[in-house]
Amino acid sequence: MTDLTFQITPGGSLSGAVRVPGDKSISHRAVMLASLAQGQSEVRGFLTGEDCLCTMKAFRAMGVRIDQLAETHLRVHGVGLHGLQEPAQALDLGNSGTSMRLMAGLLAAQAFPSTLIGDESLSRRPMRRIVEPLRQMGAQIETTGRNTAPLRIQPAAGGLSAISYKSTVASAQVKSGILLAGLYARGRTEVIEPEASRDHTERMLRAFGVTLEAQPGRAALSGGQALRASDVEVPADISSATFFMLGAAIVPGSELLLRDVGVNPTRTGVIEILRRMGADIALLNERRFGGEPVADVRVRGRPLQGIEVGHELVAAAIDEFPAVFVAAACARGETVVTGAAELRVKESDRIQAMCDGLRVLGIAALAQPDGARIGGGRLQGGTVDSKGDHRVAMSFAIAGLRAEQPLRILDCANVNTSFPGFLELARSAGLGIERGEGRGERRRNFEGGPP
Ligand code: S3P
Repeated sequence: MTDLTFQITPGGSLSGAVRVPGDKSISHRAVMLASLAQGQSEVRGFLTGEDCLCTMKAFRAMGVRIDQLAETHLRVHGVGLHGLQEPAQALDLGNSGTSMRLMAGLLAAQAFPSTLIGDESLSRRPMRRIVEPLRQMGAQIETTGRNTAPLRIQPAAGGLSAISYKSTVASAQVKSGILLAGLYARGRTEVIEPEASRDHTERMLRAFGVTLEAQPGRAALSGGQALRASDVEVPADISSATFFMLGAAIVPGSELLLRDVGVNPTRTGVIEILRRMGADIALLNERRFGGEPVADVRVRGRPLQGIEVGHELVAAAIDEFPAVFVAAACARGETVVTGAAELRVKESDRIQAMCDGLRVLGIAALAQPDGARIGGGRLQGGTVDSKGDHRVAMSFAIAGLRAEQPLRILDCANVNTSFPGFLELARSAGLGIERGEGRGERRRNFEGGPP
């Protein structure tokens, strides 16, 4: 456990206009694809959260020059598809599942060996879902006996061969890892998913000049295509904006504007869910940042009611369920979430973490294997354990707006993985949030897998 806690003064409301930091998924991909391209690419609006910094560090360790021209402005000197160099040490990807699963695909195709490690949470997360298809392509990857990191990757004797892979999970990380390996494979690599996952990789590969077939739930490309340098403007992260949307939605009478939010339809499930619960959410000033749709999102608080959220809404809102659970706790009646078993293998078991925390606050929250039943009610105060999960921590911080007594949230340092400056931004918008004891150091990194 880390030593950063959040201390929340109950009540209040959010108001004004807010710009949350850059999209995490797009920032990772921008560094990766720009590194593999021929020539220089500039990335603006890059997320300097720890997860994306892990990706940046890893590419620097493989010989890519990345200049940080300003806080969120990078210039990446691409080395071409075959220009990466063997890193001197294991690549430490911290808390970042996206870095590990995408880079597994990319590194499986390289002519040098590499090892990918992560923190305690990442070392518990399932890697079989990515290792298995890569092995089918000819990759040489070793995991622990539990199919977890460290991933030890050796060059594939004879290179990789394309596959058509029918994934059993809707996972953009798996899809993207396979597509990145597919860039190096002989033949046409195809990924078919049970539900459409986020498609940032497909959109950005196109922007970098790759020819690719993509439709919801299916993507395919032919190996051997060179990437052409391209500038990337990163939208504000809808997953970070979600905490502010939640904050406005649960306090009737509030009004908040979120600027430059990425509204790619594979990511907007949370807007659909909150609207179905009764929130007033409008997309204004719709436009594009390169291949990605962007809008300013205006949220007005109104009383919410409980709903049923089934599997068809899960993939497009996968990171937003901690916030949805808080909305459910603030709604009239019961909310039932099903088809969301993936939440159990995120940075924490989010079904358990959220239900445990909501019960501390006096809410009837029943965890189920693939979701939860949450009865709306009055939120008391208390001490909630975020389990080191950034999105759990931020969701409970926002819940403080509707709490009747002070709230203390433990183990919050990982908020910096996705949302540097959350505390200050939330405070400026009206949340009574203070830093508790400690300096907020991140968890120690850790090689060797879980106990
Ligand atoms: C991500 C995909 C999602 C999401 C994660 C980021 C990505 O994971 O939960 O935060 O950038 O591709 P899965 O693909 O495993 O669902």
